[in-house]
Amino acid sequence: MKKVLLSGIQPTGRPHIGNYFGAMKQWVDLQTSQPDTEKFFMIADYHALNFIQNNEELKQNILDVVLDYLAIGLDPKQSAIFKQSDVSAHTELAWIFDTITTMPYLMRAHAFKDAEVKNKEIGVGTFNYPMLMSADILLYDTTVVPVGQDQKQHIEYARDTAEKFNRIFGETFVLPEALIMKEVAVVPGTDGQKMSKSYGNTIPLFATDEEIRKAVMSIVTDSSGSIPKNVYEIHKLFRSTTELDVLYKEKSGKYKDLKDALIADISAFIKPLRERREEFAKNKDAVLAILKAGGEKAKAKAQAKIEVVREKIGVRLY
Ligand code: TYM
Repeated sequence: MKKVLLSGIQPTGRPHIGNYFGAMKQWVDLQTSQPDTEKFFMIADYHALNFIQNNEELKQNILDVVLDYLAIGLDPKQSAIFKQSDVSAHTELAWIFDTITTMPYLMRAHAFKDAEVKNKEIGVGTFNYPMLMSADILLYDTTVVPVGQDQKQHIEYARDTAEKFNRIFGETFVLPEALIMKEVAVVPGTDGQKMSKSYGNTIPLFATDEEIRKAVMSIVTDSSGSIPKNVYEIHKLFRSTTELDVLYKEKSGKYKDLKDALIADISAFIKPLRERREEFAKNKDAVLAILKAGGEKAKAKAQAKIEVVREKIGVRLY
């Protein structure tokens, strides 16, 4: 069976090092290590519409994510870089999935439960999120979805939905597997919780030196031990634990020195990425052309699949 890889990010704000180490870095690594795999990297703009309902902001965020993708090393020659809204089959398939899905099943989603606990008014788009994401994945006969731990349940939804559809209408969809790297499945933020845009505990991936300093200085340290755990856990992303253990022993109890060392390591890592991004940003037209071409490539595959789906459900009469 042909291997197909698909993943994506929501254009809801600047990506952070949790997005990068938890998912995006794997995308770039796999691009090199699996040349024969068909690859799709999506900008989930219709998902983001649940959160960003502002024309200028959404537009800017989409463009920003394309720049982020190119800057980390995604290569449009090897991978289709596209936005979800360019391929209308995503929303069509999500609707079809809605019709075979029950509300109690969607009410088990972590994201829904979290919102419910917080007593938030939950939009229908947010409630249906797992079905749109199932459509994203299943439309391309995706076999592998490299993501962080927080997306695991969504991929289970995609598998369940594929099975259910296949049971009702006959074999149609491939069951995808999540690819989650254990050591970076949940990258912690500056407060030790999962790094997340919504928790305000992030270190942006393309941060300036000043932003890096500020973020690192805000890392919460527990004064009871000699090793500041939250600093160490983030530092591990940039340097081997063998090296870190020597450094953290030598600087035992010297939190300021250790934070300075972390700032230096993050800055050295981010600088070339930031510069690459600035280069791409100079040529907005070329970047938009890449996105458009990626959309055409994705559309060609998705359109063929949606025709099969229409045939299976019984709406394709000519
Ligand atoms: P999003 O935009 O929240 O996050 C993008 C990717 O970053 C990972 N991630 C993390 N990994 C480790 N540690 C963290 N602290 C951390 N924070 C975020 C996420 O797991 C994710 O892989 N629903 C998706 C977008 C999406 C999608 C898809 C992904 C829509 N359709 C189809 C794959 C396939 C999301 O909101 O990711």
